[in-house]
Amino acid sequence: MAATDPEEYRRTSREHWARAAAAWGTHRDVIQTAAQPVSHWLVDAIEPQPGHRVLELAAGPGDTGFLAAELIAPGGTLISSDAVEEMVAQARARAAELGIENVEFRTIDAEWIDLPTADLDGVIARWGYMLVADPATALGETRRVLRPGGRVALAAWAHPDDNPWASAPTRELVALGAIEQPDLDAPNMFAFRDPQRIATLLEDAGFTEIAIEQIPIVFQYPSLDDWWDTQLDISTSLVRAVGALTPAQRDDLRDAIDARLARYVTADGAVALPGLTHVAAAGA
Ligand SMILES: C[S@@+](CC[C@H](N)C(=O)[O-])C[C@H]1O[C@@H](n2cnc3c(N)ncnc32)[C@H](O)[C@@H]1O
Repeated sequence: MAATDPEEYRRTSREHWARAAAAWGTHRDVIQTAAQPVSHWLVDAIEPQPGHRVLELAAGPGDTGFLAAELIAPGGTLISSDAVEEMVAQARARAAELGIENVEFRTIDAEWIDLPTADLDGVIARWGYMLVADPATALGETRRVLRPGGRVALAAWAHPDDNPWASAPTRELVALGAIEQPDLDAPNMFAFRDPQRIATLLEDAGFTEIAIEQIPIVFQYPSLDDWWDTQLDISTSLVRAVGALTPAQRDDLRDAIDARLARYVTADGAVALPGLTHVAAAGA
């Protein structure tokens, strides 16, 4: 498969996330319920103290950073950021709901962090770095904006086999011949599936005391239909691929996906789909 031009990737990625932002706000609750242990791990790993300045990159609706905001008060400031304004708007709305006041909102691309050198005590990114065109640049920038001894904590999905909640549609679309086999080493949600890649990127960026663990996650939905509707809402690439199918192909796709995921459906039709994420922390 031809390698995507990084500039083209950056442009289409921003378009994708801007379009998906409202749905990430709508489905924030189900994602955060499942992902709460990941947020807590990341926040603990930056060792937040009152007075700290903490940046959340690729914050989406912002939940992980908001946990840190409570712990750095009084005197501390959270900078909640994302590459696209539409996601920042979701985070701003959520902070207002929660009554969080020690937070600034910024549109920041992880590859070019518009903050002074050694400005921060901690940086958090839950499921962000593996999506950027050049993660080495993003982690280099992260280290630059951290003070010596500051901490970074990130989450990145493990192998597609361990994440059927996300990989099942792609696998069946490939099997149907509707899309090409994705290049898992290009920027995408599974690009950091090998934890050694995370360790190497952190090391190359100059981080020390690198720790990597795995956290299992379970996404709960009332039915497979609810899960499917959510996936179609939060993933514009899935909408595009499904939209290109004939009605008969769409039926075949759903049948194949339902068969693949049948083992996770309980007697009452509810579904508990497993996932696995790497979490990593390091010192600057
Ligand atoms: C999978 S979502 C995760 C959102 C949130 N961190 C969470 O865990 O719910 C990925 C987020 O990364 C953002 N993003 C993608 N590329 C980015 C980049 N180069 N710099 C900063 N944010 C980026 C997207 O806009 C999106 O909000």
